[in-house]
Amino acid sequence: MHPPLPLLLLLLSLPLLPTHARRVQHPNLVQTPLMKSRAEEVKQAFSEAFEDYRTYAWGHDEVAPMTKNWSDTRNGWGATIVDSLSTMLVMGLDEMFLSALPYISTIDFTRPKVYGAVSVFETIIRYVGGLLSAYELSGKQHQVLVQQAEVLGHKLALAWTEGRGNGTDVKMNMPYTWMNFETDQPAVGAVGLATAGTNILEFHSLSAHTGNRTFLTLAERSMAALLRTTQYRPGLFGESYSPQTDTGISDKVSFGPNSDSFYEYLIKYAHMTGNEDPVYLQTWLDGVNSAMETMMFKSTVGDWTWLSNWSNRTGHDYTFSHLACYLPGNWLLGARLAHNSTIFATALEIAESCAHTYSSSPLGIGPEAWHYVPAGVTSTLVAHPYAGSRMGEMYEQRGYWVQDSKFVLRPEVVESMFYAWRITGDDVWQERVWAAFEAVRKYCKAPASYASLVTVETTESVKKDESESFFYAELMKYFYLTFADPDVIHLDRYTITTEAHPLLLATEEFAYGPEPEWVIGDPQAQLPLTTADGCGGPGGTGMGQLMMLMDIYVPALERCSSTRR
Ligand SMILES: *[C@@H]1O[C@H](CO)[C@@H](O)[C@H](O)[C@H]1NC(C)=O
Ligand SMILES: *[C@@H]1O[C@H](CO)[C@@H](O)[C@H](O)[C@H]1NC(C)=O
Ligand SMILES: *[C@@H]1O[C@H](CO)[C@@H](O)[C@H](O)[C@H]1NC(C)=O
Ligand SMILES: *[C@@H]1O[C@H](CO)[C@@H](O)[C@H](O)[C@H]1NC(C)=O
Ligand SMILES: *[C@@H]1O[C@H](CO)[C@@H](O)[C@H](O)[C@H]1NC(C)=O
Ligand SMILES: *[C@@H]1O[C@H](CO)[C@@H](O)[C@H](O)[C@H]1NC(C)=O
Repeated sequence: MHPPLPLLLLLLSLPLLPTHARRVQHPNLVQTPLMKSRAEEVKQAFSEAFEDYRTYAWGHDEVAPMTKNWSDTRNGWGATIVDSLSTMLVMGLDEMFLSALPYISTIDFTRPKVYGAVSVFETIIRYVGGLLSAYELSGKQHQVLVQQAEVLGHKLALAWTEGRGNGTDVKMNMPYTWMNFETDQPAVGAVGLATAGTNILEFHSLSAHTGNRTFLTLAERSMAALLRTTQYRPGLFGESYSPQTDTGISDKVSFGPNSDSFYEYLIKYAHMTGNEDPVYLQTWLDGVNSAMETMMFKSTVGDWTWLSNWSNRTGHDYTFSHLACYLPGNWLLGARLAHNSTIFATALEIAESCAHTYSSSPLGIGPEAWHYVPAGVTSTLVAHPYAGSRMGEMYEQRGYWVQDSKFVLRPEVVESMFYAWRITGDDVWQERVWAAFEAVRKYCKAPASYASLVTVETTESVKKDESESFFYAELMKYFYLTFADPDVIHLDRYTITTEAHPLLLATEEFAYGPEPEWVIGDPQAQLPLTTADGCGGPGGTGMGQLMMLMDIYVPALERCSSTRR
């Protein structure tokens, strides 16, 4: 119990607090001793994995975990090192970070070590994002991190030109997908929604730290051009574009590959900038609304809530994927910012459904992609597994059947569980993340570091000789943050990129008008939250409710414990 003094101080200082400070993270989270020891176990696992990388693959992009060898899949600049920096800093592994820093200054980002085209998307999210996040998290003192990000930024900026190379370059609004760093020419072709729309967080920070506005301008131009293209429903965009004409060339709408992080960045950029330009939040809200109306279904078995790929011409495919399971976490974030209880409750349903793919699989790790049969949709086009077949049985038992059973150490399901924990304060999410961590530790641990699984539909693991850098950047970080002190990467101070690199918010204020009715009314009736301690979830009763009304976040008021079990 806190003494009454802090409360008194709070009341006296009320008029001094910002009126538009926006609370995303649940204010009553505490780290219990059990969670502290779990965080230590995750840290230990990450340290061992990185030391294996150092031993067998230092300077290369990935460790080959089964053969104790290496491979270069990201132009040979040492992707695992750059992608791991922010995880080290988040985990407090400062010595490990300092031991990696000298390598960073030796990278020549103007030339790929391994000949080949440079992916604009992967280079921005892994290398640029990794460097800038490490710069911020290490106290903005290691200038080399910004300098190297800027070297990449100047090269990547050329992807926004038609690249004629004779002084008559044509400026484009959207970037091309591939850059040739030897000739400084982009490969002219189509660009995916995700490539054109996943750079504004990284380029905002790059401009902020270099003082060169051009990077942010390029990102803004790309976003603005996308928002002017055809919306198949308000806020829903096709998956590929021609940068020469700024027009869409596919009507396929998806939250999976090629599209996912465009939608993710709409709301995260609104968060980062305090909703300075309302078009990002509004487009995100439009898309969520349209997706709920036209792309979201419940399975006939189990009543699980999933979305589907959708084409305005050919309809739905009734599949969902591990990648697309980033969506419930992202919807929870946006629901809190926009104070929308409908989106909040729906996001939790989808989070439960994504979690179910883990808890119902033989290894406790979910597959890459799956099918389901939607309720209330009768069409000969709806795939249905043959009754009595293995897939038919799987559907009867689980409410989905597996389309692609591999696991490539992706983070998205755990990522959404992390958001669910930090935003609702319901510790069932911590238990689910722990189960996932134990399964990964048991089944993916390889001779060196951790390996992808060929299939999760088996009782003994069959591993593949690959270990993507996002395992270190993302999956390990979300495992850790779920158990860490909730003040570490607090969601009211950071936005987390699609590669899980935390970046500082440009402002902690968020302009989204007055509180809606449901906050003041009967939130318990609308929010599927249980509270055993009378403290309330977001918008709940007690002090949480009071703070919601006042629209402020006061860490000193952590009088309620979130530990209920
Ligand atoms: C290790 O991997 C590299 C790159 O794929 C390959 O050239 C080399 O032959 C491998 N070494 C061994 C011992 O397999
Ligand atoms: C800012 O970056 C752009 C893009 O690379 C570059 O063309 C420009 O010269 C830079 N401006 C300054 C002042 O360095
Ligand atoms: C530059 O290259 C483009 C495309 O190859 C060409 O159309 C244009 O005439 C060239 N301009 C000059 C000044 O050479
Ligand atoms: C919340 O979002 C839902 C779904 O998009 C929408 O129908 C509803 O109008 C929104 N509520 C408020 C208060 O904005
Ligand atoms: C979507 O499909 C309908 C029906 O076929 C068609 O009339 C409409 O023009 C399509 N919309 C777009 C934006 O292509
Ligand atoms: C959905 O669409 C994406 C993008 O076209 C595709 O890669 C994916 O295989 C489709 N299915 C699933 C389950 O994501």
